Amino acid sequence: MGKTAKDKRDIFYRLAKEQGWRARSAFKLLQAEETFHLMEGVTRAVDLCAAPGSWSQVLAKHMYEPKTEEERKNVKIIAVDMQGMAPIDGVTQLRADITKESTAQTIIDFFGGQKAQLVVSDGAPDVTGQHEFDVYMQAQLLLSALSIATHILEEGGSFMGKVYRADNTSSVYLQLQRFFKDVCVFKPSACRNSSIEAFVVARQFTMPTDYVPCNLTTEWHTQTNEWIRDIRGVEPDPVVHLPFVAHNGIYDADMTYDLGDDYNQIDAVQQPLTAAYQDVLEKTKTMSIKYDAVTVRHDDE
Ligand SMILES: C[S@@+](CC[C@H](N)C(=O)[O-])C[C@H]1O[C@@H](n2cnc3c(N)ncnc32)[C@H](O)[C@@H]1O
Repeated sequence: MGKTAKDKRDIFYRLAKEQGWRARSAFKLLQAEETFHLMEGVTRAVDLCAAPGSWSQVLAKHMYEPKTEEERKNVKIIAVDMQGMAPIDGVTQLRADITKESTAQTIIDFFGGQKAQLVVSDGAPDVTGQHEFDVYMQAQLLLSALSIATHILEEGGSFMGKVYRADNTSSVYLQLQRFFKDVCVFKPSACRNSSIEAFVVARQFTMPTDYVPCNLTTEWHTQTNEWIRDIRGVEPDPVVHLPFVAHNGIYDADMTYDLGDDYNQIDAVQQPLTAAYQDVLEKTKTMSIKYDAVTVRHDDE
């Protein structure tokens, strides 16, 4: 696809470049903010799976940039990703895997005894095209993000995370209802209608009595029914229906918009520093992917 063709077919990609955002994803958080005001009054936030950094830019824009020098000293924003990303004023970066408990500990250390008021996660594993597998992996990543949130969120705090809406997403919704009084599914207008991508927005975090934060991805497999019975006093209902909130913007992510005769194409604000596919490209220089398997490991990074 030519450079201007993408500008034409993806209005949010074009607007991101025009407005200085590193990725079109910025609009998803901006639209959530317009709808839920998650960042209002917030000074401590965690951006999980943050690279290349457009959500961190949005957090810094709301929480850091409008403040005085003195007030900025109280603002703590940490951006976590396995990939590196270019620096952003007011944002501390941590290059780490969010599925590891050591990452939760490093985030806790960063807040130095304080708790965060907001945890957001736009995390997405590399998509394989195998629908069930991709949905499962996305749910696991969301549970990892939620696990970190249970370690670090203060009472009343908020969480927003990317989810793929599918038949078995109910189990993730149930987990969220366990920790938050108010949970809904949010579809920003920057997401394509045809996409199963949406976001869970969970507010009013409340730590269940006697709950010890742990890795929910493993706990889920052993104790789910038990705790649902405990909390609800009834046998678990396999289907959970959450309120659905859609952002109604002026632009439609599925539409093609004319560029006009005097259109000036501009380059992306910030190229990814270390995208996973760069490792694959390096490896395929010396081998044939038709005959050899390519394994990219991030664990040792
Ligand atoms: C859609 S991008 C995030 C875009 C970002 N919110 C922005 O606005 O620029 C998804 C990110 O998830 C990260 N990711 C996937 N699995 C991860 C994991 N286990 N730990 C940390 N980051 C992960 C990827 O490296 C990738 O940068």
